[in-house]
Amino acid sequence: MPEDMNINAVRDSFTESLAGASTLQELDEIRVKFTGKKGTLTQLLRSLGKLPPEKRKEIGQSLNTLRDEIENELDLAGRRIRDSENEKQEISERIDVTLPQKGRISGAFHPVLQTMHELADIMQGLGYSVASGPEVEEDYYNFECLNVPPWHPARDMQDTFYFPDGKLLRTHTSPVQIRSMLQYGAPLRIVCPGKVYRRDNDTTHSPMFTQMEGLLVDKNVSFSMMKGTMSEMLNAFFGKSLRYRFRASYFPFTEPSMELDMECVECSGHDAHCRVCHGTGWLEVAGMGMVHPNVIRAGKIDPDEYNGFAFGIGLDRMAMLKYGIGDLRLFFDGNISYFMSGFGGAEKC
Ligand code: DAH
Repeated sequence: MPEDMNINAVRDSFTESLAGASTLQELDEIRVKFTGKKGTLTQLLRSLGKLPPEKRKEIGQSLNTLRDEIENELDLAGRRIRDSENEKQEISERIDVTLPQKGRISGAFHPVLQTMHELADIMQGLGYSVASGPEVEEDYYNFECLNVPPWHPARDMQDTFYFPDGKLLRTHTSPVQIRSMLQYGAPLRIVCPGKVYRRDNDTTHSPMFTQMEGLLVDKNVSFSMMKGTMSEMLNAFFGKSLRYRFRASYFPFTEPSMELDMECVECSGHDAHCRVCHGTGWLEVAGMGMVHPNVIRAGKIDPDEYNGFAFGIGLDRMAMLKYGIGDLRLFFDGNISYFMSGFGGAEKC
């Protein structure tokens, strides 16, 4: 029958068109071509009236079935295409939240603060606690109970900022020795990192700088314990085993007193023109000694039962040596790009 042939031909043509369609627009074109107002199938349906009545029903049913099929298949194909387009879009817009961010927008610790943290951490590993004390201090704690009476010439070693009421800006972290002994008693192991102030201002001195005090009080503390502690701390801080030299010195609060020299971290003594040690091979890094009995007594501890050692180390210098910073003033001028670039990228240097 020609109608049947037509129906089959339309189905074949539809199947073929559908197989070649890969976009929603192409599907729309197919829909128009077959079931649109002037579509092939619509034409056939319109021509039903011309058929003899006995054929109309059968052919009409076949055409309706075909129209349902076509609409179904177009819907299915539409869904498939939409799904795959969504998938493609998802893939192209996918964000890998585990990727590291571009650039570094967070802040960073100031190198001196970082140095404080590192040294305090090392000392905590050796059983020390971190103590603190006021920066506005009393003459008594800063000098007198550290065995520096008002007439003592050692006061000249530390030019002091005084307040009208007689208080002062602490010139060293040593007053925390007394405050800690009074607060905690013996035995005791503390370090105290913090700011100190002196009337000094030139290329190698600033009126505010940082120190870390250390104090160990116990029974039968020996000089070699102090030497071991210092070398242990500095080796851990610089990440290598260095040579040390203990030179006799004088501090009113220790007897005997020593200054510690450390092998030059830059040249190890092999460069006569080294910019860090100036060819000496040694760097002065700390003052220390066995705590004077008067100081132990001022801390309300019996010096016949307990003794101890103490040290004071300059943290700005430690930070400069560890991070290769050549000029103390860089710590204060707020040039963040210098520090963010690993201490070397800025023009200033
Ligand atoms: N307070 C001293 C200073 O600022 C450093 C120092 C030396 C601290 C010897 C000590 C010490 O605890 O025993 O120069």
